[in-house]
Amino acid sequence: MAIPAPPSPPLQMWQLRLALESDVPELEMLIPLSVRSLQTPCYTQAQMEAALGPVFGVDRQLIRDGTYFVAESVGVIVGCGGWSRRSSLYGGDGHRAGEDPLLDPHRDAARVRAFFVHPAWARRGIGRAIMVACEQAIIAAGFQKVDIVATLAGEPLYAAFSYAVVEHYEIPMRDGLSLPVVRMTRSLESA
Ligand SMILES: CC(C)(COP(=O)(O)OP(=O)(O)OC[C@H]1O[C@@H](n2cnc3c(N)ncnc32)[C@H](O)[C@@H]1OP(=O)(O)O)[C@@H](O)C(=O)NCCC(=O)NCCS
Repeated sequence: MAIPAPPSPPLQMWQLRLALESDVPELEMLIPLSVRSLQTPCYTQAQMEAALGPVFGVDRQLIRDGTYFVAESVGVIVGCGGWSRRSSLYGGDGHRAGEDPLLDPHRDAARVRAFFVHPAWARRGIGRAIMVACEQAIIAAGFQKVDIVATLAGEPLYAAFSYAVVEHYEIPMRDGLSLPVVRMTRSLESA
């Protein structure tokens, strides 16, 4: 009697690629969707609305640097995130005055930046896949350390990659509001 074949693994329904400037309008729709759904356990509606733009937004500099990834499923962007060789720790470029200064890989920590997954695609490994791609690129660029200013919603993802909490603090926003975040770090020397 023939031995039944084991069930085949589920097909990965999305693929990673580098983001393009032409993706910006789609990213600008994805980010509020992700924030308003996946951050509700952590922040009030007022905090999320105040953070959209100044804290949560597209940083075109990352796209120009070739350090921002999108996860795409049949032509639709369902997740994004990246890393940076520049100084800013968070925020869209629309709220930045002037050039974001370059970091020194021998002295400074690279940044992990701006991860947003579509709520219908959460917990399917997209964040994890983008982190793996970021860390590979960060190591290839010669950095030995990574810093992240994480939302409280993002903290478990980075904790799963052995990032350690450095400090909790609050980002001041409009109308006297503030956003509690957590600064996390990891050395990649032994990675
Ligand atoms: C944070 C975020 C990017 C994670 O994306 P994701 O694709 O759902 O994450 P993954 O499926 O790759 O999860 C990888 C691991 O991270 C951890 N993790 C992710 N989301 C988690 C959650 N809500 N609760 C607990 N652990 C979580 C788990 O260890 C998970 O592994 P597992 O599913 O095998 O248990 C997503 O929740 C999101 O877009 N949040 C809103 C925007 C935001 O706050 N971004 C962070 C900016 S710093």
